[in-house]
Amino acid sequence: MVYKDIYDGWKADPEGFWMQAAKAIDWIRPPSKALFDENAPIYEWFSDALVNTCWNAVDRHVEAGRGDQLALIHASPVTHTTKGVTYRDLRDHVAEIAGGLLAKGVKKGDRVIIYMPMIPQAVEAMLACARIGAVHSVVFGGFAAKELAVRIEDCKPKAIIAASAGIEPGRIVHYKPLLDQAIELSSHKPDFCVIYQREQEISELIPGRDYAWHSFRFGVEPAECVPVEGNHPAYILYTSGTTGQPKGVIRHTAGHLVALSWTVKNIYNIDAGDRFWTASDVGWVVGHSYIAYGPLIAGATSIIYEGKPVGTPDAGMFWQVIQNHKVKSFFTAPTALRAIRREDPEGEFIREYNLSKLQAVFLAGERADPETIAWAEKHLKVPVIDHWWQTESGWPIAANPFGIELLPVKPGSPTLPMPGYDVQVLDDEGQPLPAGELGAIAIKLPLPPGTLPGLWQAEDRFRKSYLEKFPGYYETGDAGYIDGDGYVYIMARTDDVINVAGHRLSTGAMEEILAAHPDVAEAAVIGAADQLKGQMPVGFMILKKGSSKPHDQIVKEVVALVRERIGPVAAFKSAVVVDRLPKTRSGKILRATMAKIADGEDVVAPATIDDPAILDEIRQALGTIGYGPR
Ligand code: COA
Ligand code: AMP
Repeated sequence: MVYKDIYDGWKADPEGFWMQAAKAIDWIRPPSKALFDENAPIYEWFSDALVNTCWNAVDRHVEAGRGDQLALIHASPVTHTTKGVTYRDLRDHVAEIAGGLLAKGVKKGDRVIIYMPMIPQAVEAMLACARIGAVHSVVFGGFAAKELAVRIEDCKPKAIIAASAGIEPGRIVHYKPLLDQAIELSSHKPDFCVIYQREQEISELIPGRDYAWHSFRFGVEPAECVPVEGNHPAYILYTSGTTGQPKGVIRHTAGHLVALSWTVKNIYNIDAGDRFWTASDVGWVVGHSYIAYGPLIAGATSIIYEGKPVGTPDAGMFWQVIQNHKVKSFFTAPTALRAIRREDPEGEFIREYNLSKLQAVFLAGERADPETIAWAEKHLKVPVIDHWWQTESGWPIAANPFGIELLPVKPGSPTLPMPGYDVQVLDDEGQPLPAGELGAIAIKLPLPPGTLPGLWQAEDRFRKSYLEKFPGYYETGDAGYIDGDGYVYIMARTDDVINVAGHRLSTGAMEEILAAHPDVAEAAVIGAADQLKGQMPVGFMILKKGSSKPHDQIVKEVVALVRERIGPVAAFKSAVVVDRLPKTRSGKILRATMAKIADGEDVVAPATIDDPAILDEIRQALGTIGYGPR
């Protein structure tokens, strides 16, 4: 079958399509139907089934004779180690950790925060939760204590599983003090913490609260897989919205299993026994879907890479890992390839390795610029596939379905919508726009299985953020267009979210921090184009009357504040003091106009601006920090 038949088949009979896809899952009680639409526009999938994610990702492969196959390979250039975990070992480790959690009172439905670097134990911790029906929430290691505290406060975990340390080039990330500080900051306190002590740093444990990973596992009754309902939350993953309060995206168990199982084969062309490498982090949705769950549900081997594309130690490391571990499908962010290309423009490192097993490279997380794709295709000599999705969707909305057929590529487009997604471009009134016209990208409801059914304890916010603006549709927050052949083009965000090195960040959250500085009266943050990272945040501050501190001192302080409150991942390094900010007559700051000025574009003052002269002031201020016309 070709893509078109499959997509049309889904459109003609979505229920039949998803019930067929559901056959790839081992059910304890099979679903009686796929879609549950009683509470539309809130939809659920396979709600009346009983199932267990860990069984499907681990145990069933051991039962099927894959016990000795590697489930995980930890490729860690930053610690100079490579280590494999077989499916049998994975099952045993996970059952022990899950047993430890049960013994300490963690039950089905309780939340567990996981704050760990790229080590196999992070995936084991996720699976241990899945085994007993606990709801995990993984927090990315590049976030500061304050961000961790916000998540503890919101999802109220019974336990936190962390590592003693992470390793970034040139420095150790001290997870344990960050964890202690976050618990201190939060009014909710977990009952206990489990700490995986790494060789590079042994943390001091707090007696009565903290347990070391190994002793926690030791001597407990290994846990069996606990059946959960199809609509039981598998996890909560926080993502940036327009304010400082992140959104807790919920993923339901059954839809997650069905969607990942379908995509691993049909998009990434991965079967049981294949090697799949996603160079991202378990703290992001890409890591949840295609480092942890997707490859394991398929019975494949997943590579967990602890390192960077460049500098650990060189721009050839990705190719070495692909060669040594016989990677068949490889997934990374465009920014990683840009970083490699900058150091190895002629692809000399690539030629040093045997990449004969590699069939395709997948890119997502931000817009893939055609130049980077062309460079990668030229040197890697395999299809380089851009695909578009988001934390909320949990799996690709638009892609080139390599496992079905390779469709003609159009540079700048992540190709066509996947089954389950009826993607439309709408005008401000919610009317579909003709081919080629730029508008808001929306998806006709219901969204398919595996996508978000809501936000953690915030149904109103869910409706307001995604469902209200265009009734009958899910609002993606992305703007773009669809061409005459149905190819989707993603051009920008419609909200105040920016994308820095494939990391989704809220300018609103940074503005709140800038505005909290004692000398700052008002602040704005924009995303300015950056050759390597796609975008970089740039701050503007109006100072309070009477502020006498030198401006560069204030800039230094706010840069430090953002790092301390959000974390190094925000990459907030530039800010300027201005007298005024450009606003509409109704008082809305014209961030998009400021971003255009920062990018050196010619800007026509919008009709709604209260005073066009301010744009020149902004241009001058940006010039002092290296932005604007060059
Ligand atoms: N824990 C702690 N700190 C982290 C971290 C983690 N897991 N990940 C990143 N950071 C820190 C970095 O050390 C850096 O700190 P610094 O300011 O002290 O140097 C800061 O956060 C910014 O990191 P990053 O954006 O990764 O920039 P970089 O300059 O270190 O590296 C790239 C640039 C392009 C190599 C890197 O961004 C990259 O590999 N990006 C791929 C992103 C990706 O996979 N995204 C997933 C979406 S699919
Ligand atoms: P996240 O939720 O962190 O995965 O970020 C999702 C956002 O990243 C999307 O809404 C887009 O703005 C952007 N994005 C992800 N993949 C792509 C892509 N292939 N092309 C363009 N933008 C993308």
